Amino acid sequence: MPIGESKDLTAARAMRMLERAGGPGSVMASAWTPGRCTLVGEHVDYAGGQVLCIAVDLGIAAAVRRSGSGRFLTTSDGTTVSRVDPAPAGDGADRILAPVVALRNRGLAVPAVEVGIAATLPAGAGLASSAALLVATSTAILRLLGVTMTARDLAAVALSAESDVLGIPCGPLDQRAVIDAPEDGALQLDCRTGRESLMPWPWPDVVVVGCDTGTHHDVGGTEYRRRREETEAGLAALNAASCQELTEAAIDSAALEGAVKRRLRHVMGETRRVAEAADAMRRGDLSALGRLMSESHRSLRELHEVSTPALDAVVSAAEAVPGCAGARLVGAGFGGTVAALVARSAAEACRTAMAAACDGGDTFELRPSPGVAVLAPDVVRG
Ligand code: GLA
Repeated sequence: MPIGESKDLTAARAMRMLERAGGPGSVMASAWTPGRCTLVGEHVDYAGGQVLCIAVDLGIAAAVRRSGSGRFLTTSDGTTVSRVDPAPAGDGADRILAPVVALRNRGLAVPAVEVGIAATLPAGAGLASSAALLVATSTAILRLLGVTMTARDLAAVALSAESDVLGIPCGPLDQRAVIDAPEDGALQLDCRTGRESLMPWPWPDVVVVGCDTGTHHDVGGTEYRRRREETEAGLAALNAASCQELTEAAIDSAALEGAVKRRLRHVMGETRRVAEAADAMRRGDLSALGRLMSESHRSLRELHEVSTPALDAVVSAAEAVPGCAGARLVGAGFGGTVAALVARSAAEACRTAMAAACDGGDTFELRPSPGVAVLAPDVVRG
């Protein structure tokens, strides 16, 4: 994974890969999409909660061109697939072609295309690689066809590709984050109303450091699905339209299984932490944001039960480094990445400590990146 590679170089690599796999062909369009790192607000998007996140400067590029043969072709990670039908077939082209199906379902006449994918974002590591892939491919196809779309519609296409076409039970966070994130700042998203607020990154000398533990999760897997089902069942039992309506008293007095109560306690606490975290960012209160990140991790570990010993070890190692304000797992959990909020002067020490705690996991700085609405104004209408 060439982590330091620029967006343009990743896009150029996707084009070269396509040319190598498919031979010379018609003119290409490409698009790059960032990943996302949640600061606070994990496992609440499907419960109508609030999320505070940044898009990051690791991402995925898609290069697309019209197929000369009428067959679809995809190439990614050394795997090339050629087929007639873009619908999922259980191979490496499923995710790459899902946007074709979603765009066609919306009535857009998408011809057979060839797609090359290149990435600097680790896959399945909690940094929204799936949404980044779907948004990059969708954006490149729209660019090739000269079609524009609102940011909301583009997010809806990517979400539909993931949930309707691929059957992955994800929430709405990742697509919105990688499209709507501001330049050099964070996005606060209310998943109940869809409302957003943007805030600048207040600390020039503070960075987010990531450590990919190398144990990767699958949002399509049974545990993510089970957390979502338990949370939704609990909300329905309490007649709550979202986790923002929950109270301790209502959860305490409900006749619900222990696991369901724990899920409800997590989503209630986590969405409240987001409001506090956004306030902390506006005030420039670094230690408050760091504390909330560490509290978020503890809640994900004890109440939502989505952490692993490797993630816990990396969080503890980061928290022990002087200059680290807080740390937590990011994304769905069950493996993946830990993010730590740390003074730039302590970033190197933090990376070393985190890598050592998980037998040499990859570490990287996660710098805020603008989302696709900023990066692709020719495709995404305001
Ligand atoms: C995955 C899902 C998101 C969200 C996060 C956890 O990234 O795709 O919808 O639920 O997990 O916050």
